[in-house]
Amino acid sequence: MCGIMGYVGDRPISKDVILDGLKALEYRGYDSAGIAIINQGKFWTEKRAGKLEVLVSKIDPKAPQRGTALGHTRWATHGGVTDENAHPHFDCQRRIAVIHNGIIENYSEIKAELLAEGHKFRSETDTEVLAHLFEKLYMGNLEEAVRTGLKRLKGAYAIGVISIDSPDEIVVAKTASPLVIGLGKEENFLASGIPALLPHTKQMIFLRDQEMAVIRKDSIKICDFCGKELEQKPELIQWDPITTQKMGFKHFMLKEINEQPLAVANTLQGCIDLNAGGVRLEGIKFNKKQLENLKNITMIACGTAYHAAWTAKYLWQRHLNLPIGVEVASEFRYSSPYLSKETLVIAISQSGETADTLAGVKLAKDRGAPVLAITNSPGSAISREADQTFYTQAGPEIGVASTKCFLAQLTALGLFELYLGQHRGTLDAKTIREKCQTLLTLPTALEKVLALDSKIQEIAGQFYTKRDFLFFGRDILCPIAFEGALKLKEISYIHAEAYAAGEMKHGPIALVDENMPVVFLVTKNSVYEKIFSNMEEIKARKGIIIAITDEVNSDIERVSNHIIELPKTDPLLTPMLFSVPVQLLAYHIGVLRGTDVDQPRNLAKSVTVE
Ligand code: AGP
Repeated sequence: MCGIMGYVGDRPISKDVILDGLKALEYRGYDSAGIAIINQGKFWTEKRAGKLEVLVSKIDPKAPQRGTALGHTRWATHGGVTDENAHPHFDCQRRIAVIHNGIIENYSEIKAELLAEGHKFRSETDTEVLAHLFEKLYMGNLEEAVRTGLKRLKGAYAIGVISIDSPDEIVVAKTASPLVIGLGKEENFLASGIPALLPHTKQMIFLRDQEMAVIRKDSIKICDFCGKELEQKPELIQWDPITTQKMGFKHFMLKEINEQPLAVANTLQGCIDLNAGGVRLEGIKFNKKQLENLKNITMIACGTAYHAAWTAKYLWQRHLNLPIGVEVASEFRYSSPYLSKETLVIAISQSGETADTLAGVKLAKDRGAPVLAITNSPGSAISREADQTFYTQAGPEIGVASTKCFLAQLTALGLFELYLGQHRGTLDAKTIREKCQTLLTLPTALEKVLALDSKIQEIAGQFYTKRDFLFFGRDILCPIAFEGALKLKEISYIHAEAYAAGEMKHGPIALVDENMPVVFLVTKNSVYEKIFSNMEEIKARKGIIIAITDEVNSDIERVSNHIIELPKTDPLLTPMLFSVPVQLLAYHIGVLRGTDVDQPRNLAKSVTVE
């Protein structure tokens, strides 16, 4: 949601720095964009509803190029998608400009007060109150005005503020929403996410909650909201800027699907030591007693990350001898969960910023439960809040639909299962060694599945005009069926539903007729006969069966209209391999329907509000 970009320094083209940064933040999801530059003692600004291209097309070629600058991509919460509601917002005298990601919950109360005092508002946003509030409090020092103003605010915010009275500084502050400062040479940057900063620097400071900073070209002062100066060491971010490019692929989503073998290999790297016979997770420091005393595990996550957690539950319950709970984070936080210091809470989040998952982490910590985060985002809020973090190594994921991060999460969860089994003594050394060896074969196995792309594209071509889809799976493939339906919905806007195949007769089968494509995920496991019967039942009702399976036999051939045949593999890898065809099916259907595959409508990559 909303993207923030800021620049202070002497480059002759700060406008381009901002626009390129906003481009790199498009993945966050947005519906309008804007920019403001301080130039020759006044603000130059342009704001437009629509995509970044609309903004760029409206920028006068003679517009100022240099000066301290802010840019913003807006994902509307308060007020419609209009030019006027786009950020930056200004005070009455147009001396202060503000950009904001988050929600000011008590904005209407502050706005009423400011209106009564004569302030004139131009937009319907919650953000505009900030510009007027800082205007009211400004006594010649922008930092002080912002600090005093922050005391009035309730809600979530990352803000950037500039003033023509102090043209060489940007004042920033953060509570809940992400804000990263990029350190340059005689220039500095700010952004909502790492990808926007990578072309300029790998040295970054992740502002923590309740911190603000004054950024000048040659200094960064970080303080708390009371003005106490704080020490924050920059972190070196190892991501390669090239990974934020499409590199010849038509879409980021397709590139990221194809990067999955690499994402998995990088996530496994350094975690398996076959000589020592097991898993070694650097940086995870649970002590043996803590692990032995565990009474249960609760995993929390949203969307695709939730499907990763749910998959792990199937695997872990077989080997770990512990009750495993999996909760959608937005429900968990309001469900009075049972938590104690013997409950291990595992929060899974690609972005590390999802508001509900973050709130779940805070709740767990308040109740004394140890929290492990699994995330792909260094410096993210969830990793800071959790007691320990395992970083997946998928590199930046730009497509809104999570693909390679899902595979990396499944890999991380596979590793963590072995880690727990090893330390709690529920898995013997031989089993751990064998499973480690199997995990190491995953990248190669994924390559083989990716080679099925043209077959999947051909099937997509036959079904992309359908209105509905059903996805059925059982056991370990049930969460993958749900992931397949989620991918198809978000990318193609086709109505897709997933069910545990055993639930079919309890309602969904009423939807089946000769127009309904039904995707079955089938492997030869303990429920093979059961799911095969479900296929027969769909066939009897003339449903169109697309079987994704590693078990092709005459029965499957007889009932299926189409078969995507996967290589046979160790059951440990089954969920990972079956994820790829459902991603590709969604991708190709989306492309054929002409949707905005990388930035589907209404969606945001990081859901930083409830
Ligand atoms: C995935 O394709 C979705 N766009 C979405 O469900 C996502 O997985 C969810 O919002 C959770 O995000 P997170 O992993 O960053 O917490």
